[in-house]
Amino acid sequence: MASPRLKYLSLGVLVFQTTSLVLTMRYSRTLQAEGPRYLASSAVVVAEVMKILTCVLLVFKEHSYSMRALNSVLRQEIIHKPVETLKLAIPSGIYTLQNNLLYVALSNLDAATYQVTYQLKILTTALFSVSMLGRRLGVYQWLSLLILMAGVALVQWPSDSASEKEAPSAGSQFVGLAAVLVACFSSGFAGVYFEKILKESKQSVWVRNIQLGMFGLVFGLFGMMAYDGERVRESGMFQGYNTVTWTVVALQALGGLVIAAVIKYADNILKGFATSLSIILSTLISYFLLQDFDPTSVFFLGAVLVIAATFLYGYEGKPSPNPSRA
Ligand code: C5P
Repeated sequence: MASPRLKYLSLGVLVFQTTSLVLTMRYSRTLQAEGPRYLASSAVVVAEVMKILTCVLLVFKEHSYSMRALNSVLRQEIIHKPVETLKLAIPSGIYTLQNNLLYVALSNLDAATYQVTYQLKILTTALFSVSMLGRRLGVYQWLSLLILMAGVALVQWPSDSASEKEAPSAGSQFVGLAAVLVACFSSGFAGVYFEKILKESKQSVWVRNIQLGMFGLVFGLFGMMAYDGERVRESGMFQGYNTVTWTVVALQALGGLVIAAVIKYADNILKGFATSLSIILSTLISYFLLQDFDPTSVFFLGAVLVIAATFLYGYEGKPSPNPSRA
């Protein structure tokens, strides 16, 4: 079993990463950008390249900085085990689809509806953990997941001033909601599938992440050429990039790395708690520093529910540390 230190360290870094990503994205929205906007499809590709390079460095470090060992492990694990490598094409393809669905959702829904609905992934993740990993959850733990979902939904409930903004049309609301619902299932499935692969083999999480990232890069490049091929040919894939774009992309790449570590050393359900807590944290920081948010009593009720759910989840014994085989 992974050491508790790595478990809490990875969860802590996830809270930090999610919080800074949300804040940077909020900040970037307040900036008046000049010229063309960056291509979302290109950001996905660049984040994937950053992730692969960082994972190669981490594997290099794991092998005491020996070029020879690095070369041999990458060859052994990636080229000489094509079936193992291909297994990662499944979560990778699903994540690529999911990342694109979320952009569709965000462009068709207001941010609050999007974030509130996306919390359903807490439940889909639990359902997949139970069905695919044979994890057993007690009554208090199911209850705490429901409370967590309700709490995050309330935390993100739009305040009156926010809801006065122009509402999206009914048609695009439907497209947006459908995209978000599919993303909830894909998030739960891909995360738990990756957890199953990580926990069933002894291979380093970073090697697995390189395999995942390689497919992600291929899918991402296809996606970029399919959606924005014309624009990329005209003005290049880095059009519209500025310092904030690079920061968001780097934080997104860091997110992929931290999520992999959290799935390895903790699990997908705990990851849901960490990201929920970070939503509260980023909202509070945003209130105190950016002053672009006015907390309502609904927010405080939601925050109390999220914190209570976190305690309740740990109340009835610990979640089973090692999934029994399904
Ligand atoms: O919303 P959800 O928690 O499912 O999002 C997970 C995100 O983490 C996805 O954007 C996925 O691309 C990314 N990820 C990653 N590397 C992993 C696992 C997930 O980049 N090993």
